[in-house]
Amino acid sequence: MMYYPDYRPRRLRRNENLRRMIRETKVSVDDLVYPLFVTAGKGVRKPIGSMPGHFQLSVDQLASEVKQAKEAGIPAVLLFGIPDKKDEVASGAFAKDGIVQQAIRRIKDRVPDILVITDVCLCEYTSHGHCGMIEKGYVENDTTLEVLAETALSHVRAGADMVAPSAMMDGQVAAIREALDEKGYEKIPIMAYSAKYASCFYGPFREAAESAPQFGDRKSYQMDPPNATEAIREMTLDVEEGADIIMVKPALPYLDIIARASQEFDVPIAAYNVSGEFAMIKAAARLGWLDGERAMVETLTAIKRAGADIIITYFAMEAVLALQS
Ligand code: PBG
Repeated sequence: MMYYPDYRPRRLRRNENLRRMIRETKVSVDDLVYPLFVTAGKGVRKPIGSMPGHFQLSVDQLASEVKQAKEAGIPAVLLFGIPDKKDEVASGAFAKDGIVQQAIRRIKDRVPDILVITDVCLCEYTSHGHCGMIEKGYVENDTTLEVLAETALSHVRAGADMVAPSAMMDGQVAAIREALDEKGYEKIPIMAYSAKYASCFYGPFREAAESAPQFGDRKSYQMDPPNATEAIREMTLDVEEGADIIMVKPALPYLDIIARASQEFDVPIAAYNVSGEFAMIKAAARLGWLDGERAMVETLTAIKRAGADIIITYFAMEAVLALQS
């Protein structure tokens, strides 16, 4: 090791060309996935208060938003549905003509060359707002698996290119893999929300997707924030069950988990830069307390530096512009 004055790290920081040359991490548009919310109706573009620049979009509006994403070079969108009716058993989640199924068909028709990923969960479709079937006040695991598998299958039948189970039920990846393979969809990959924490940072999303639990919380299925080794167990299980990509969520408060995941697994790692992470930066920027664009780029860079290969982010469209400059 050379020490001062022979080695002066500042030599390589003197100007932007030098810094560019030795920069270790660069976020690319290729890394980004753009999440979108689809709702019933026509011509609907309903702003989401806590997520400036984001809307609940009807299927027609969604198609043009996806077209813009495609034109910006974003490789993939992630769809969430807000059904017009909810019930105890999440019928809207796997309905042939459900909101997400309609959205997939429309996108495939209008913008065929973008990857359509769907979130496979039930909380937007259940009257109680939980991610599974309720029995005696408890979210039942194994009965939920069947519904999740049915939902994933219906998305794929509508044309989804990849499914992303996010309910945090044990065995959900295996159940979906089996259901897809049985019907001849063995080519469809699964991006598993593997280490998904019971986080307060989903607050704005629950407004956007109208999916807040009506009683209790999600702590009996989503992970406890203080746990890291348990995240490795969750990810190991998902890889064994056939996950093609594993995800850590949220991203910024869990960079240590992303880093461990990228060291320990040889499958691609996705990180979800969630609604609350987006809202914090937007709110601070609006108050003039932060430079919003720099905070965005620094955040996305940190997520990538930690080891994420794929970043799901509400900043996707803005990031494309910022990364070009
Ligand atoms: C569905 C789901 C949630 C998010 C993604 N999929 C909400 C939750 O688990 O409560 C959160 C995404 C975000 O906050 O941006 N279960």
